[in-house]
Amino acid sequence: MEKADRRFSVVRNRGGIVREQPLVWREEVSPGDKESVHRICELSGFFSAEEVDMAVELVEERLAKGVASGYHFLFAQHGDTVLGFACYGPIAGTESSWDLYWMAVEEKRRGQGLGRKLAAEVERRTRLFGGRRLYAWTSSRDQYHPTRKFYERLGYSHEATLRDYYKPGEHLVIYVKQLPGTPHSP
Ligand SMILES: CC(C)(COP(=O)(O)OP(=O)(O)OC[C@H]1O[C@@H](n2cnc3c(N)ncnc32)[C@H](O)[C@@H]1OP(=O)(O)O)[C@@H](O)C(=O)NCCC(=O)NCCS
Repeated sequence: MEKADRRFSVVRNRGGIVREQPLVWREEVSPGDKESVHRICELSGFFSAEEVDMAVELVEERLAKGVASGYHFLFAQHGDTVLGFACYGPIAGTESSWDLYWMAVEEKRRGQGLGRKLAAEVERRTRLFGGRRLYAWTSSRDQYHPTRKFYERLGYSHEATLRDYYKPGEHLVIYVKQLPGTPHSP
């Protein structure tokens, strides 16, 4: 477990002020994360059963091979409850390009700023690892309009569209964010 974010300890909703546990970041991956990732992805309504399985496989790969898997995870949680996660890592064969493979926030927590915090933490950690460009892939499907808006709001720029990549009429949309200098090369 890492630092707590006290700004999340009190939130407002329609009923007034609700006290919540502080937000905690965790990088270590444990077998229980298979369930957390499955739950968040399945309930998101965004991913097919096959895609949910793919997200869980990333956890399994990381558990089996450690950092050598190339998959870094970041979990945002209250107590033991995972609220959101990201999976990211270096792109093999590149000098300092990294991929944001997966990111999801619990359906009921969306739109409350957690995704922005999660992405900022991923970007900070990527920079510390020496990553300079962070790529995010998404789909052109209408359902992913909010996801595309999310990346744009966070300063990711549209780098490319690969037409009909997923299937005829569904394109791959690639975003990239140029990260500020690392401590090694300011
Ligand atoms: C994409 C996702 C991670 C964003 O997390 P989130 O917690 O909902 O996002 P935030 O509340 O932090 O929003 C961050 C910014 O994106 C914008 N944004 C978020 N949802 C938006 C929407 N539906 N339409 C327009 N803008 C949106 C917000 O306005 C906010 O900008 P601001 O801080 O300048 O106001 C989350 O919605 C999610 O899990 N989506 C389903 C899975 C997915 O698409 N994952 C990414 C591809 S793998």
